[in-house]
Amino acid sequence: SLPRDLAGCSIVVSAGGTRESLDPVRFLGNRSSGKQGYALARLAVQRGARVTLVSGVTAGLEPPAGAHVVQVTTAEQMQDAVRAHTATADVVIMAAAVADFRPDSMAESKIKKVQDEPATITLVQNPDILAGIVEQRAAGDLPATRVIVGFAAETGDEHGDVLTHARSKLQRKGCDLLVVNAVGEGKAFEVDSNMGWILRADGGESALPLSSKNLMASRILDAVGTLLFTG
Ligand code: C5P
Repeated sequence: SLPRDLAGCSIVVSAGGTRESLDPVRFLGNRSSGKQGYALARLAVQRGARVTLVSGVTAGLEPPAGAHVVQVTTAEQMQDAVRAHTATADVVIMAAAVADFRPDSMAESKIKKVQDEPATITLVQNPDILAGIVEQRAAGDLPATRVIVGFAAETGDEHGDVLTHARSKLQRKGCDLLVVNAVGEGKAFEVDSNMGWILRADGGESALPLSSKNLMASRILDAVGTLLFTG
C-alpha cells in the first residue's frame, strides 16, 4: 500500500489544456491530454493529501476519486480557479498547458472567409498563472504555500539544449521545482509515458527516465515531499 506521507497536506493541481474562443464555433487550443496532472492528483489523494484539481480540457479523463475537481476552459478562468484555492494550499502544481495567447476579442458570429484574402487574428497575452503565484508568495500573500511546482515541455536536438532552456526557465519563473519534459516521439503529449528531469531552485537535478505518467507522478510527489518535510 502507498505511504500516507502527504496526510494533512493541501494541494492544488492544474491539468489539461486551455481553450480560447475565436468565434462561437472555433477556438485556439493545444494537445495536452491532462494525463500527467490527473495522475498527480490521483496519487496525491492516495498519499493522503486534500486535493483540488483545476482541470482544463482533457482527453475525456475520469475525475480522480476523492479530489475536488473544478472544470475550466480558458486561461483566465483557470487563473481565477487556481487563485481561489491557493490561499490555503501548501503545494501548488501547475501541470496544465495554459495558452500563452488569446484572440483580442471573440467574434459574435462565425468568422467568414473572404475569397483570396489571408485572415488575420490579433492575439493578446494571457496572464502567466505560475508567475502570478510566485509573485503573490514573494509579496507575503500566501503564507501557507511552501512548494510551487512548474512544468516545462522543451524541445531540443540534444539533452543539453533542453536542460539549458529549463534551467533559465526555473530562474525566470521563480518556482521551487520545475518538471522538465523532453518533447518528442512517445513523450509528453497525448501518450502515457514521459521522460525528463526535476530541477530544484537550489540547483539540484534528478533525471526522470522514460516511464509511465503514474511513476513520474510518484517521483514528482517524492520531490515535493522532500521539500515539504526537510525544507
Ligand atoms: O513558459 P512556459 O509556458 O513553458 O511555462 C510552463 C509552466 O508555466 C507550466 O507550469 C504552466 O502551467 C505555467 N503557465 C502558466 N500560465 C501561462 C503559461 C504557462 O501558469 N500563461
